[in-house]
Amino acid sequence: MAQRNLLAVFLAACAVTVCAVRDGAAAGDAAAGRRKALMCQTCHGLDGRAKIPEAPNLAGQSAVYLGKALKDYRSGARKNDMMSIVAPALKDEDIDDLAAYYSSIEVTVAPPPK
Ligand code: HEC
Repeated sequence: MAQRNLLAVFLAACAVTVCAVRDGAAAGDAAAGRRKALMCQTCHGLDGRAKIPEAPNLAGQSAVYLGKALKDYRSGARKNDMMSIVAPALKDEDIDDLAAYYSSIEVTVAPPPK
């Protein structure tokens, strides 16, 4: 019984987390993010698929993760020759919009055959 209660609490906590994450993602405007992504496309692509080998794909990445990464580059907590130049110019709203846009791109994966 105690285990059941624990499970209920766990599930409730998950639901709250999912809602919070959804809200976080909804905070950005994906259409505005697409326009702003023009300044990212040389390296990350407008479709979120990296165009240079040093840059990661951003398509389908979680908005929470993208937002944190951009804020970390902006603050200097995370450093990279390219991103440390790009990120300081971004306002919170830009970061939310860019995160909303890149996270909204649908990706499919095809694992290699065994
Ligand atoms: C000149 C090339 C270049 C441009 C322009 C650029 N990036 Fe990057 N970006 C990179 C590289 C290279 C990395 C990998 C950095 C590292 O290793 O930490 C990166 C990393 C990132 C990451 C971290 C991803 C992860 O998986 O941790 C995010 C998010 C990101 N870029 C977003 C953006 C956004 C949004 C823009 C436009 C506002 C942008 N970048 C513009 C080259 C670029």
